[in-house]
Amino acid sequence: VGDGERKVVGDAAAPAPADLYTTAGKLQDLRERYHEAVTASGAAAIEKQHAKGKKTARERIEQLLDHGSFVELDEFVRHRTHAFGMEKKRPYGDAVVTGLGTIHGRQVAVYSQDFTIFGGSLGEVAGEKIIKVMEHALKTGVPIIGILDSGGARIQEGVVALGKYGEIFRRNTAASGVIPQLSIVMGPAAGGAVYSPALTDFVIMVDKTSQMFVTGPDVIKTVTGEDVGMEELGGALTHNTRSGVAHYLASDEDDALDYARTLLSYLPDNNLSEPPVYEAEAELEITDADRRLNTVIPDSPNQPYDVHTVIEHIVDDGEFLETQPLFAPNIVVGFGRIEGRSVGIIANQPSAMAGTLNIDAGEKAARFVRFCDAFSIPILTLVDVPGYLPGTDQEWTGVIRRGAKLLYAYAEATVPLVTVITRKAYGGAYIVMGSKQLGADLNYAWPTAEIAVMGGQGAVNILYRGEIRRAEEAGEDVAAVRTRLANEYTYNVASPFLAAERGELDGVVEPAATRIVVVKALRALRTKRADQPPKKHGNIPL
Ligand code: HXC
Repeated sequence: VGDGERKVVGDAAAPAPADLYTTAGKLQDLRERYHEAVTASGAAAIEKQHAKGKKTARERIEQLLDHGSFVELDEFVRHRTHAFGMEKKRPYGDAVVTGLGTIHGRQVAVYSQDFTIFGGSLGEVAGEKIIKVMEHALKTGVPIIGILDSGGARIQEGVVALGKYGEIFRRNTAASGVIPQLSIVMGPAAGGAVYSPALTDFVIMVDKTSQMFVTGPDVIKTVTGEDVGMEELGGALTHNTRSGVAHYLASDEDDALDYARTLLSYLPDNNLSEPPVYEAEAELEITDADRRLNTVIPDSPNQPYDVHTVIEHIVDDGEFLETQPLFAPNIVVGFGRIEGRSVGIIANQPSAMAGTLNIDAGEKAARFVRFCDAFSIPILTLVDVPGYLPGTDQEWTGVIRRGAKLLYAYAEATVPLVTVITRKAYGGAYIVMGSKQLGADLNYAWPTAEIAVMGGQGAVNILYRGEIRRAEEAGEDVAAVRTRLANEYTYNVASPFLAAERGELDGVVEPAATRIVVVKALRALRTKRADQPPKKHGNIPL
């Protein structure tokens, strides 16, 4: 924190020793102690931190929060450990900076681990500071943001440190679905320490300077013989692309903090309040930009297109904040606004694995649906899915139980659900992607939609075996016969008008009208009230 922005306690420290029997002396003592608290780590440690491309705990908070809004808590806390000669080094504040402030004028609570003090490790009092600010967030119903940069449990404090982690996890769990919880990992997070971010809603990691792992490279080498570096094992790229632990790969710390601020702008303070609403009445006439959607779907059903184009033509100003863009790219999830109000968007991505659903996509989308549902954010689902990805790998890694999560998530969601089928909606994948039968409120399709048990080619193989054989025997062009039969099937069986005829869809709409249809649907659903039967909690397949 720069001098001008420090918590206001008075002028800078004066040189003469304080006379503690006078008021002026007590004020001077306070100033000196405060100065000591905010400079506890010393210039050398700060320089070391900067040399790694990392900001200090205080610099991060200052950049995350609105300028001058930070109110620090517990800056005079000190550890009480005597083990290993620790009593000789008792810096004010210990290894974490905590407090309150605002982002875009809205209250938040924050903690930021200070790697320059005991490696940001978590002992008894650092744990207590974090717990206090989490409880404040829960009590006042405001988001909590944790900035992680820590060597983990403080080795000198043993079981006491472990116990504090347990208490933090319990509060993360209590806060889940009550207040938004964000984790920004800006350094190491090792061992059980990874589980606090894992329990939060969104994890942001910084490329090259953050790592998360349960067991580090040395332990892995000893136990399994595998040789793996820290970055490959648990760096930001790994967790954004392979494990799905992280939701955003920030190019640097500035990018990470910007993303966190933007993400919060879509979220409510808590589960009883609404996300912020921005003044933005929609144009209810079809615009030239809307007409672009009429040419998005290629004539060939096997040709991909980028679903981002569709999303950007529906949300306000084409602004879409994607989460987990690098993990399971066959499904796209993220936030946009429609008429200035937050909407969660889930869309199959035909340009990645043809938009098939697999385990990763199912889990990614399920967690997103549950987040939106917990925080009263309506969901728009865009469907173009040829089905589940076939294969032993998927079956044996549990596509049944893990794929069931997305069904469960949609089926228990009570927020407004609007679904638009743009092209393929086959089999179980049709049902899972926000179908009416699963609980969606308003379902639409484009005339290019194909809704059926399976795609044309697959159906021809089963239904028209005899016809294909006859064509072969007669020496006809079998490929042409197949295509004709598949087209007939698609037209006769998979037509969206059949679904519309039965009320399974509420309408078939021209792509160019989609934005307006969605605007009106969400307006109509603003007063939606729906409840689930009372229960302790459900038992989502895990
Ligand atoms: C106490 C620690 C510490 C820790 C680091 N330090 N980790 N002090 N407890 N856990 C101290 C170092 O002694 C050093 O102090 C300073 O912090 C900076 O650390 P360096 O090692 O110099 O930094 P660097 O080279 O950048 O390496 C960072 C690191 C490494 C990779 C995080 O410090 C490390 O491996 N630390 C131990 C990690 C670990 O195994 N933690 C326990 C995980 S298990 P000086 O005084 O020299 O500056 C766990 C269980 C949680 O956390 C369970 C929850 C249920």
